[in-house]
Amino acid sequence: MKLSPRLQKIADSIKNRETLADIGTDHAYLPIYLIRKGSVRNAIATDVNRGPIEIAQGRIKANRMEEKIETRLGSGLSVLEPKEADIIVIAGMGGMLIADILEADMEVSKSAESIVLQPMLDSAKLRAYLLKKGFEITDEELVKEEAKLYEVLWVRYLGIPQPAPQFLEIGPKLIEKKHPLLGELLQKKTRELQNVIDKLQEVETEAGQRKLNECLELQKYYNEVKQWV
Ligand SMILES: C[S@@+](CC[C@H](N)C(=O)[O-])C[C@H]1O[C@@H](n2cnc3c(N)ncnc32)[C@H](O)[C@@H]1O
Repeated sequence: MKLSPRLQKIADSIKNRETLADIGTDHAYLPIYLIRKGSVRNAIATDVNRGPIEIAQGRIKANRMEEKIETRLGSGLSVLEPKEADIIVIAGMGGMLIADILEADMEVSKSAESIVLQPMLDSAKLRAYLLKKGFEITDEELVKEEAKLYEVLWVRYLGIPQPAPQFLEIGPKLIEKKHPLLGELLQKKTRELQNVIDKLQEVETEAGQRKLNECLELQKYYNEVKQWV
């Protein structure tokens, strides 16, 4: 079976895994390929729609892999238990949908050793989400398929929010160490930011509004870091 270059790039990165969960499997191309190659011992092929699951079941049966690949109908990671899959693939969906899927079942997201994400759009928003939520992006690749470029990200949950560039007011290492003075620094920064927000709320220009939105985002980030430390 020949995979598309996009799926091949994902498949080539998966070796010696116990259980693959392919979320939004559609035709189950990836699990069938990986089981045949011996790169994963078992697989769970999931989809939110009955049509793709039925197609997947037909293909799994045709390849006599019913013992190795289980299909599950349902949204995102809700069909998995934490630690059930050591490798999770969520490919061929929008970046925001991928973020929603990770967020909806955080215990499952946190428990995977590696998660492969292939957003079709909104990759910047997905990256911002990942960094903010404490996922580490361990690798990225670009794949060309016909005239189109696809992005693939390998991530895992690290547990430490990693600030996007606009959130570098607080040193990432301080957050990582849960530095004992971090609470104090956060209070100081929050007070200073509130003063700026108060002033910007009186400004009516477009640039002022843009700056205000940035400050409100930063405020939200400070609040998340406060909860974390
Ligand atoms: C474009 S296909 C991608 C198939 C395959 N993963 C790939 O990359 O080639 C997207 C698949 O995701 C499924 N899907 C969409 N939202 C989903 C969700 N929340 N949970 C599980 N599957 C979903 C769709 O039914 C569809 O089969």
